[in-house]
Amino acid sequence: MNKENIESILHEKRIFFPSSEFSAAAHIPSKDNLHKIHSIANRDFEGFWATQAKTELTWHQDFTTVLDRSNPPFYGWFIDGTLNVSFNCIDRHLEAHGEKIAIISERESGEITTLTYRQLYQRVCRFANVLKSQGVSIGDRVIIYLPMISEAIIAMQACARIGAIHSVVFGGFSAQSLKDRIENTRAKLLITADGGYRGGKIVPLKATADIALAKGCPTIEQVIVLKCTNQSITIEQGRDIWWHEAEANAHDKCTPTWVNAEHPLFILYTSGSTGKPKGIQHSSAGYLLGTITTMKWVFDIRQEDIFWCTADVGWITGHSYVAYGPLAAGATIVIYEGAPSFPDGGRFWKICQDHKVSIFYTAPTAIRLFMKMGKEIPESYDLSRLRLLGSVGEPINPEAWIWYHQVIGRERCPIVDTWWQTETGVHMIAPVPGAIPTKPGSCTLPLPGICVAIVDEEGNPVTSPHEGGHLVITQPWPSMVRTIWGDKQSYYDIYWRKFEGKYYLAGDSAHLDEDGYFWILGRDDDILNVAGHRLGTMEIESALVAHPQVAEAAIIGRPDGIKGEAILAYITLKDIEPLDEEKQNLLIQELRIWVSHQIGPIARPDEIKFVDNLPKTRSGKIMRRLLRSISRGEIITQDISTLESESTLAQTPQSKS
Ligand code: PRX
Repeated sequence: MNKENIESILHEKRIFFPSSEFSAAAHIPSKDNLHKIHSIANRDFEGFWATQAKTELTWHQDFTTVLDRSNPPFYGWFIDGTLNVSFNCIDRHLEAHGEKIAIISERESGEITTLTYRQLYQRVCRFANVLKSQGVSIGDRVIIYLPMISEAIIAMQACARIGAIHSVVFGGFSAQSLKDRIENTRAKLLITADGGYRGGKIVPLKATADIALAKGCPTIEQVIVLKCTNQSITIEQGRDIWWHEAEANAHDKCTPTWVNAEHPLFILYTSGSTGKPKGIQHSSAGYLLGTITTMKWVFDIRQEDIFWCTADVGWITGHSYVAYGPLAAGATIVIYEGAPSFPDGGRFWKICQDHKVSIFYTAPTAIRLFMKMGKEIPESYDLSRLRLLGSVGEPINPEAWIWYHQVIGRERCPIVDTWWQTETGVHMIAPVPGAIPTKPGSCTLPLPGICVAIVDEEGNPVTSPHEGGHLVITQPWPSMVRTIWGDKQSYYDIYWRKFEGKYYLAGDSAHLDEDGYFWILGRDDDILNVAGHRLGTMEIESALVAHPQVAEAAIIGRPDGIKGEAILAYITLKDIEPLDEEKQNLLIQELRIWVSHQIGPIARPDEIKFVDNLPKTRSGKIMRRLLRSISRGEIITQDISTLESESTLAQTPQSKS
């Protein structure tokens, strides 16, 4: 094996087939069926996407050009077509399904409200008229800083209706993060709330927004404030207006603004677990097409489904699989405002039970949290309506996958482990659940019309099983990022420069197995080099998580004079009782032997530290980059604006080793 390439060392052999009942009822019921779709896409790539765009979207003016390759890597899709995203998500369902419930919203307090498609239409139209009356028009940027409630979706859809470009800022972000995003977008208007609830506490959104606005943000002309918690807030006359007052006077019809297919629908800032936030700019038509096709292929969405994606609209998952995709598909969605374990660890399962959720989509970090709390909690709820489960955000460790399958899916529901990114807009590599068997820890195969490869440093495909490389996308795809807002150069440098514009560089390492299944090994930046072996973090972490006492693990490399890098593991335990020193030492020995047995001595951690929490982004990704800095005793100069809790910073370095 070429030592420059990444080695895969964990060999997961378990395989799970969908039941014949599931397959029989699925949109894509068999391997053969899926294979046919792939062959059409392979034979006539543009023709395939043109057909999808014509079938799945309602156009105001049809397109004649499918893919504009005139200025790579700035690709355009369906460039001479016009449409409106909000029309596609709402209006076109009114005739047949106007009285169908679009949104079931549960506040953290337990209050439940619903909106039918017709009610959603009226609210979106009214709010679109409010925006217009405040001088917002096509192309203007609007910042949305709201809790996870129906109005967040209404605000996004209303922007889409009038061609305004929204940028949603997650409600947990600080004043500084909000200010940075307002200034980078040069937004005209901010939509916020007095507050929202999370974990039994009020998140003071308006007060935080006031601090952001006091620091700068000269472009903001108006602030629309939604009353959510009723706590007292400061209203600045002439700038701040109440949502309910403005909406009360607004007309409930608003003709959609037809926009070009390439018109930016939104900008969403991402830093993931590395680097400084970048404004990812998405299109209207291509993006929407991606969301709707994946709703069908991956989520196998049907009229009667109740779909719950637990992501906040502050993340791409909450854009594609809460605010846009499911509505474009005419589905009923559940949204929930609060913390997953409030008031107790049964909250998610109670929501699934009460609202008869049939498709449930969450992140590995949440699954590991529930595993830690014990299976007795979900076992006490009726989860019989669930038929499909999904995972997104990080590689799912096989043990967490198996737990999800047994305890939540009751061994009945396929699991779709979906690999994608803010930049890809929608799922790229994911199971088509009625058609292909799944393997715990693998996101399986690329979707139709999506061309993915694993390549070495020179861009040559890595073909031998268990040899890793860079995950790249070799052809443009409709829902791809169009640019970094206001920074074309960084767009090229980050995603395209490495392979000279030929491939989109995802920044993840992966390998293929004998069946051509993809296994994500971790972020490129996190790859370790141990005695000449390049190892991904995912596999060592997965081996540790498979130990009965381990809840979560993060692996980083620490410079080592002999091996190049030594393996350092940060671990949280399932048992919250602290271990005395002797027990800790015994467990450290046991875990080192455990990893040696599971995957081999090369992966054995040199050092293990037990910590109470791992530093994570607010979307739940482990920030290995930060752990690396901490372990090297570096002063933290990097951007930590997306860190979930600064308390993890305080506790990590003093942890017991
Ligand atoms: O490293 C991959 C990981 O999350 C990154 C994208 O993060 P973000 O832009 O925040 O989008 C999250 C929602 C898609 C990827 O580059 N990632 C996401 N899903 C998976 C994953 N890694 C492995 N398996 C997944 N299913």
